[in-house]
Amino acid sequence: MIPAPHRHTPAIIDLAAIRRNLMQIRAHIGTRPEIWPAVKANAYGHGAVKVSEAIEDLVDGFCVSNLDEAIELRDDDVIEKPILILSGIVPEDADIARELNLTLAAPSLEWLELIVKSGHDLSGLKLHIAVDSGMGRIGVQDFGEANAMIKLMDIHEIIFDGIFTHFATADEADNRQYEQQVHKFDEILANLSRRPKYVHSTNSAAGIWHTEQVQDIERLGLALYGLNPSGSVLTLPADIVLEPALSLYSELTHVKQIQAGDTVGYGATYKADGPTYIGTLPIGYADGWMRDMQGFHVLVNGKFCEIVGRVSMDQMTIKLDQPYFLGTKVTLIGQDQDLKISADDIAEYRGTISYEVLTSLSDRIYREYI
Ligand SMILES: Cc1ncc(COP(=O)(O)O)c(C=O)c1O
Repeated sequence: MIPAPHRHTPAIIDLAAIRRNLMQIRAHIGTRPEIWPAVKANAYGHGAVKVSEAIEDLVDGFCVSNLDEAIELRDDDVIEKPILILSGIVPEDADIARELNLTLAAPSLEWLELIVKSGHDLSGLKLHIAVDSGMGRIGVQDFGEANAMIKLMDIHEIIFDGIFTHFATADEADNRQYEQQVHKFDEILANLSRRPKYVHSTNSAAGIWHTEQVQDIERLGLALYGLNPSGSVLTLPADIVLEPALSLYSELTHVKQIQAGDTVGYGATYKADGPTYIGTLPIGYADGWMRDMQGFHVLVNGKFCEIVGRVSMDQMTIKLDQPYFLGTKVTLIGQDQDLKISADDIAEYRGTISYEVLTSLSDRIYREYI
């Protein structure tokens, strides 16, 4: 899908807000740990290249999820600082990572054996051993496996640069699972044949609510983009004020009055009970504005307007309080006069998390930067 700048339905990304959010977290965790922001998934929908360039001077490295995201940042020397790929990559591609000076998560001894078997010269490739302390996705579960990996790395002159884990419940009020994971990670660290340069475990939530756990690197994701990683469960500490960096706007392409009994949209799920103004917007589920947004609202002229009828692939319809001119601005995420709609409001309505709302916005939404 290509971006559609002529459609006047842009996401406006405030890069200065992203920098301010980063500085808030820096002040909270102190000066010692490095910050390697998570710019995976196109920087949570904000644009990986633009965001990374905008904050490179404030950070020490970057985290992405796969080889192609890393290549995008290394292309044309956009980013020269370390880039850590957090998921396990296809073993045969390890030589690409070495050539581009990328750091890889090493998910298991089996994976490491496969990359060394590929026969490529992997000397100088940097690896961070992933530890599965309870997240259950990738990583070693005991120190024996980790030590066997270190030995194999040494034989092949691969650099044991780091070891890390990831918490499943750092954003929750109940700390029991979190404590168990800390314990398991500590146990593995205590039994390693040697400590690497980097030991790390914290994402936004852990960095915010378990600040004592921030070790050599803070892998900062959602908070960088100005949202509370715990949604409405945990309140941010008083010293952290985050500013959402993404707003989403559109404008009316059609306005009409319908009468009692007239229906709107696929399935005719909305039927007017009297004269009603209906506005049409050029955004739909192919943009990541999902079908289950029916019944939620947008802002027009500082007032909430309900989304009525089913959201179509490319358009949706709203109920207006009065006729408006074509081209009238509509706020889908952001502030209009005294009211605002946040990615958290949308997440709550849809029964999901703001991460999903932001990363679902498709490439068709044109990104504009301020
Ligand atoms: C391994 C790892 N570290 C860090 C992050 C960043 O998390 P957050 O956006 O909650 O800060 C993620 C995100 O999913 C992750 O998978």
